[in-house]
Amino acid sequence: MRFFIDTANLDNIKEAQSLGILNGVTTNPSLMAKEGIKGKDNILEHYKTICEIVDGDVSAEVISNDFEGMIREGQELALLNPQIVVKIPMIEEGIKAIRYFSDKGIKTNCTLVFSLGQALIAAQAGATYVSPFIGRLDDNGQDGIQIVKSIVDMFDKQNYQTKVLAASIRNKNHIEECAKIGAHVVTAPLSAIKELIPHTLTDIGLKKFLDDYAKNQ
Ligand code: G3P
Repeated sequence: MRFFIDTANLDNIKEAQSLGILNGVTTNPSLMAKEGIKGKDNILEHYKTICEIVDGDVSAEVISNDFEGMIREGQELALLNPQIVVKIPMIEEGIKAIRYFSDKGIKTNCTLVFSLGQALIAAQAGATYVSPFIGRLDDNGQDGIQIVKSIVDMFDKQNYQTKVLAASIRNKNHIEECAKIGAHVVTAPLSAIKELIPHTLTDIGLKKFLDDYAKNQ
């Protein structure tokens, strides 16, 4: 499973990169707003900076709802850096845009996916990634992990090359479950990624190792 970080915060991206576990970044307009990045030029510059920090794919989301707008924006984003993946919402115009970019060899991430059928149609349009939102499905009283599992299994059975990029990750349990069910990529905030590292027994064990070493000197 590849690890992406779901943020536009440069310090968080640098910290995840320094751990040596980072394979890419996903952003969205809400995450850009959270960092106070506004205005087209600043937003494009921010994407370029992110691409300089990480080696892997960087999802940059279009804000148009119509096909022509998505194509115009997506082309501009894709020209910024070969790492850019054009992130497109799961709506009819978005499906047409995914097909357009797929035919041109430009990578896409179909976002706001909440069902097996939506994932199926995005894969059929040639999406590089589909992003089912686990946390928001859970919030909606559904089982986000089970929906992601059904997408992973269906892509496998049908031989789609589209990768399942599990998003809206809220905690380490979501990441562990994504790995168990075979999600190809997980995108999570730094806090959830770092929850994977500590364990009380690790702390206790390490203290004893160091105490025993000190006593023996
Ligand atoms: O990048 C989209 C997704 O990860 C959003 O997560 O926590 O806002 O539901 P969240």
